[in-house]
Amino acid sequence: MSESHHLQTKVGVIGCGKISDAYFRGMAMFDNLQAVACADLRPEIARGKAEEHGISALSVDQLLAEPDIEIVLNLTIPQAHAEVALAALEAGKHVYCEKPLSVDLAEGRQVIEAAHAKSLLVGCAPDTFLGASHQTCRKLLDDGWIGVPVAGTAFMMGHGPESWHPNPGFYYLPGGGPMFDMGPYYLTALINLLGPVKKVCAKTARTFEQRLATCKEHYGEHLPVEVSTHHAGVLEFHSGALITVTLSFDVWGHTHSPIEIYGTEGSMQVPDPNGFGNAVRVYRPALKAWTDMPYSHIYHENSRGIGVADLAAAIQGKRAQRCHGDMACHAVEVMSAFDQSSQTGREIEIATPCQQPEPLPMGLIPGQIERQA
Ligand SMILES: NC(=O)c1ccc[n+]([C@@H]2O[C@H](COP(=O)([O-])OP(=O)(O)OC[C@H]3O[C@@H](n4cnc5c(N)ncnc54)[C@H](O)[C@@H]3O)[C@@H](O)[C@H]2O)c1
Repeated sequence: MSESHHLQTKVGVIGCGKISDAYFRGMAMFDNLQAVACADLRPEIARGKAEEHGISALSVDQLLAEPDIEIVLNLTIPQAHAEVALAALEAGKHVYCEKPLSVDLAEGRQVIEAAHAKSLLVGCAPDTFLGASHQTCRKLLDDGWIGVPVAGTAFMMGHGPESWHPNPGFYYLPGGGPMFDMGPYYLTALINLLGPVKKVCAKTARTFEQRLATCKEHYGEHLPVEVSTHHAGVLEFHSGALITVTLSFDVWGHTHSPIEIYGTEGSMQVPDPNGFGNAVRVYRPALKAWTDMPYSHIYHENSRGIGVADLAAAIQGKRAQRCHGDMACHAVEVMSAFDQSSQTGREIEIATPCQQPEPLPMGLIPGQIERQA
């Protein structure tokens, strides 16, 4: 047994739906994690995953009472995130939550405060900013390749998940919509690159009263829409950078790139933040052309679960978390501010604290989150 096996943190998964497969794969990949049990409101789903991965299927209460489990991996739907996270903290477990941390700021704050009160850690998806492409962008920015970032754009526009997701209804309820579903990827990527957000100024719209599901599981059903489905705004970062953001489920097609950052010395194309790889390009005035940049970091393939490994490393006492709950709570406040700004006609000041996460070290080997001493 290698030394790393002595440092495996045991993980219990609550919520065994569509995204759980990616996490089971990820947990098998990282040296410092071991999935030991899973639970779901639908026990037959948990039994299926448990058999597939050679772990125990438990009820939610049994899983929370299991003394060996240190991290509860909360892969439930957004509307259940805070409730499950609070129950896990109450049971003395650290929590890693799928995004968004919560459906509103009050719930998010409750989770963060409960963790502080119990001296436990909260981690939250997305962890894609720890992938090769976004860590490369971070290194290029930190090394000054485009000078000081002053502006940029972030676009996520599509026509919603009702054609492909087996259970699309939750995407149109509070905690869903393009902002709460995809916003965490874009905001976390931007915070990784630029630090925390200071103010938000935005307009939002709910374009359709209902959405027509065309996935095979719910074909022909009309889904009620309770959230804004188009968001257009400007984020002012503490660094001074102004980023134009449009996130929408009302758009059939477009040609914008996901994120671009404009600096005093050049520009950068940042790839889709809902992925670990894809091309990083830099424009420098002397070349008058976009240049594909090589990756400085590993993890260019789907490495979902790296955020759980990051939490385990923090628990094991090595260093501060990168996918930390404070950043996720900050993102929830920023996301909520879009509707708030639209409704009040004012710019919204962001109050929650957030540290820009430390970059990953270079020179890791697959399965590592830290370099061996
Ligand atoms: N599907 C994707 O491609 C994808 C990608 C990235 C992130 N996510 C995020 O992952 C989370 C889950 O998404 P999904 O697509 O796997 O949804 P899903 O509906 O397929 O699965 C969610 C599971 O959680 C269970 N559940 C709900 N409430 C529960 C509770 N209180 N206790 C125990 N189990 C409960 C449900 O029974 C279901 O099996 C969401 O937050 C989503 O935003 C999904």
